[in-house]
Amino acid sequence: MNEQQLIATARSLMQAGKGLLAMDESNPTCNKRFAKLGIPQTEEARRAWRELILTTPGLSEFISGAILYDETIRQSKNDGTAFIKLLMEAGIVPGIKVDTGTKDLAGHPGEKITEGLDGLRERLSEYREMGARFAKWRAVISIGEGIPSRGCLETNAHALARYAALCQETALVPIVEPEVLMEGDHTLEQCARVTEAVLHTVFSQLYLQGVLFEGMILKPNMVLPGKDCPIQAGIEDVADATVSCLLRAVPGAVPGVAFLSGGQNAELASARLNAMNARWRSRMPWDLTFSFSRAIQQPALDAWKGQDVNRMAAQKALYHRAKCNSMARRGEYRGEMEKP
Ligand code: 13P
Repeated sequence: MNEQQLIATARSLMQAGKGLLAMDESNPTCNKRFAKLGIPQTEEARRAWRELILTTPGLSEFISGAILYDETIRQSKNDGTAFIKLLMEAGIVPGIKVDTGTKDLAGHPGEKITEGLDGLRERLSEYREMGARFAKWRAVISIGEGIPSRGCLETNAHALARYAALCQETALVPIVEPEVLMEGDHTLEQCARVTEAVLHTVFSQLYLQGVLFEGMILKPNMVLPGKDCPIQAGIEDVADATVSCLLRAVPGAVPGVAFLSGGQNAELASARLNAMNARWRSRMPWDLTFSFSRAIQQPALDAWKGQDVNRMAAQKALYHRAKCNSMARRGEYRGEMEKP
């Protein structure tokens, strides 16, 4: 086993004051976001967007690792420098999304299973040779009438655990991402119950597959009421519900928890992460940070709009969100930071 290497990589991803930048949207997801802003949905536009992100001055002050997509890990700056080289030179650890997306789970209407296990060992070796040092796999769980089912939780947890074991065999730190979705009118308490059940199931499967907890990172959802729930929770309620849930289900041997943003407003995501760190730091055995995609990229994408004249404004917006989230990771974020 590559224990020492895995532990060292996981520690460097969780280093003080930093978090992960998720820029691993699949082409269809990236295109959807581009379409909303009238940006051409071409490989060159996606490359230009990723170059803008990766050349943001000072990004590595707040970002320890970046999660790439298969297309992106093979792309380069317009001067020919490979993106992966840019990252390494900046001291940002390169990572790669390795699941191939979700499909309907047979026999379970309304539920999904994440695919990508076939041929995964070979793909992981290729990515490692290219320079990746960690990987990501996302499972999605919906809350609704009679769901999630036990069958959905067990199959998704099993796939996550098989993926994580294969990653560790290849000396890649697995980011284990079971996402309970915000879609629906469920309450905060329902989300807490489901998230806790998901995490217990995932860690039980990780244990069965021999995954080294010290050499992995958990990427969960925050515990939130559904988007359509009439009662929306306050920042501190979300922080308390989320950390209480993690304390019950996440082993202390896991070095870090890095949240997904899941469609939350960018400033709220920072405020909620901040409240968790400010209120609970002394009680938590793991570090709590961010691994946001939308909540870190969207303000910058809105500023860019696909036009080169907006490049600097977009980089400024990205730097600002990275800084706010870095402060939140320390429990030192203040709403005043958002004022122009
Ligand atoms: P969001 O922060 O936009 O939820 O994305 C995180 C991610 O990596 C999804 O897989």
